[in-house]
Amino acid sequence: MTKRIAIIGAGPSGLAQLRAFQSAAQKGAEIPEIVCFEKQSNWGGLWNYTWRTGVDENGEPVHGSMYRYLWTNGPKEGLEFADYSFEEHFGKQIASYPPRAVMFDYIEGRVVKAGVRDWIRFSSVIRWVEYDDEAGDFTVTVHDLAKDHVYKERFDHVIVASGHFSSPNVPEYPGFETFAGRIVHARDFRDAREFEGQDVLVVGSSYSAEDIGSQCWKYGAKSITSCYRTAPMGFKWPDNWEEKCAMEKLVGKTVHFVDGTTRKVDAIILCTGYKHYFPFLPDDLRLKTANRLATADLYKGVVYVHNTKLFYLGMQDQWFTFNMFDAQAWYVRDIILGRIAVPQDKAALLADVAARVAGEEAEEGDKYAIKYQGEYVKELIAETDYPSFDVDGACAAFYEWKDHKKQDIMGFRNQRYKSVITGTMAPSHHTPWNTALDDSMAAYLQN
Ligand SMILES: Cc1cc2nc3c(=O)[nH]c(=O)nc-3n(C[C@H](O)[C@H](O)[C@H](O)COP(=O)(O)OP(=O)(O)OC[C@H]3O[C@@H](n4cnc5c(N)ncnc54)[C@H](O)[C@@H]3O)c2cc1C
Ligand SMILES: NC(=O)c1ccc[n+]([C@@H]2O[C@H](COP(=O)([O-])OP(=O)(O)OC[C@H]3O[C@@H](n4cnc5c(N)ncnc54)[C@H](OP(=O)(O)O)[C@@H]3O)[C@@H](O)[C@H]2O)c1
Repeated sequence: MTKRIAIIGAGPSGLAQLRAFQSAAQKGAEIPEIVCFEKQSNWGGLWNYTWRTGVDENGEPVHGSMYRYLWTNGPKEGLEFADYSFEEHFGKQIASYPPRAVMFDYIEGRVVKAGVRDWIRFSSVIRWVEYDDEAGDFTVTVHDLAKDHVYKERFDHVIVASGHFSSPNVPEYPGFETFAGRIVHARDFRDAREFEGQDVLVVGSSYSAEDIGSQCWKYGAKSITSCYRTAPMGFKWPDNWEEKCAMEKLVGKTVHFVDGTTRKVDAIILCTGYKHYFPFLPDDLRLKTANRLATADLYKGVVYVHNTKLFYLGMQDQWFTFNMFDAQAWYVRDIILGRIAVPQDKAALLADVAARVAGEEAEEGDKYAIKYQGEYVKELIAETDYPSFDVDGACAAFYEWKDHKKQDIMGFRNQRYKSVITGTMAPSHHTPWNTALDDSMAAYLQN
């Protein structure tokens, strides 16, 4: 009997897994039966934009947390697929910070070429997964939303690729319940023009706070106030952006900060991060981890130590994204194909996790973190036939990117970098980011 593999999610991680198996098949390997379940009606995960917030047309929680006018927040040269370059897809080299629609097109291009769409059951939500100790396999309960039909199927392995930037972490501060304005989490932020002319408070000091604040600034908010709990972002902000310490409470429309200062605001955007959330997994299969580079309980960052037939992709906090998901997907594929052996001794699996945690904690700072994750990508690709690429070169692009942000937070997206896949330098974009209001693919590709 052929093995059966279930992949949950057809975002960049799930699609990497499909491409990994398809590439083995293309080279003549016998591969198992692959079924990918995707709750949305199309692929691309977060990159598949939706205007919807809250629940979708089927009453399911909306997965998407991307918004209009989103451009990548790091250079594309850090995430390029080693087996499918931007130049191959677009027929030319393109500028370094593509908007979401351009990225979606690129992600889709590789899997269209691979011809794996038929392996995906769309509009199919995984409701539950159970492991049967006696049979040694999983039973997966699926809700086919198009037919409104719930059914079960058995699989030898399950690969969880459902993402972890979709279920919001929503804190509450005193006074929220009586605030006469909009309080929204980044997950439900869609169009910055909603905040034109307003005094906006952004809570948080990570990527969403920086980028959503910048969006509101770009599209005409009157002022931005951002506030941090642990550490400020510390960029040289425009004149109408002030960074404050943590908020304490709201009184009417006035925010009180812990240093005793106050500020009146019209709207509050909670850029307070996300939760790893797997409502379809029982206790014995469910990953419980913080958003960090060395996750809990994953051997080599992918194999669930409490059941080694279960895999997770893309569960780390992310400097590297698409190429790291590829490295993981190729590695998981090779475990399933019997090319890579996983220790069956739980102590050895846990020792691997502990070593990764110690490695992450050995030094502080972003540069170390980037290098740490780069080394992880190298470690995995060295063990499979994923095309080797210059990971150090990608790290170098990230270091440069960090410097460019320090120099000019509203101008770093005007910079360009060299592809570590094709060696070509990206062209300068035709319009500076802060005045480029049209984020369509047609506008971006006019270089
Ligand atoms: C606002 C925002 C901006 C970002 N910008 C960038 C960027 O510029 N560059 C970058 O490299 N990364 C960026 N990221 C990081 C992002 O995590 C990755 O780019 C990538 O989307 C992760 O891929 P994934 O497949 O792991 O998860 P996702 O993209 O989240 O895809 C998961 C898929 O699983 C499906 N799914 C979930 N639950 C179920 C279920 N029960 N049954 C069936 N299907 C299910 C979802 O519908 C979805 O399609 C951003 C993230 C956010 C939130
Ligand atoms: N354009 C883009 O490409 C773009 C845009 C947005 C996001 N992203 C991506 O999205 C992912 C998630 O980023 P994120 O910024 O949403 O999440 P994140 O990196 O996990 O950061 C969460 C932030 O929320 C703060 N926070 C948490 N709980 C809080 C509370 N109770 N009160 C105040 N602050 C609180 C944290 O502060 P502490 O530091 O104190 O914990 C931290 O600053 C990243 O991969 C990022 O790259 C990309």
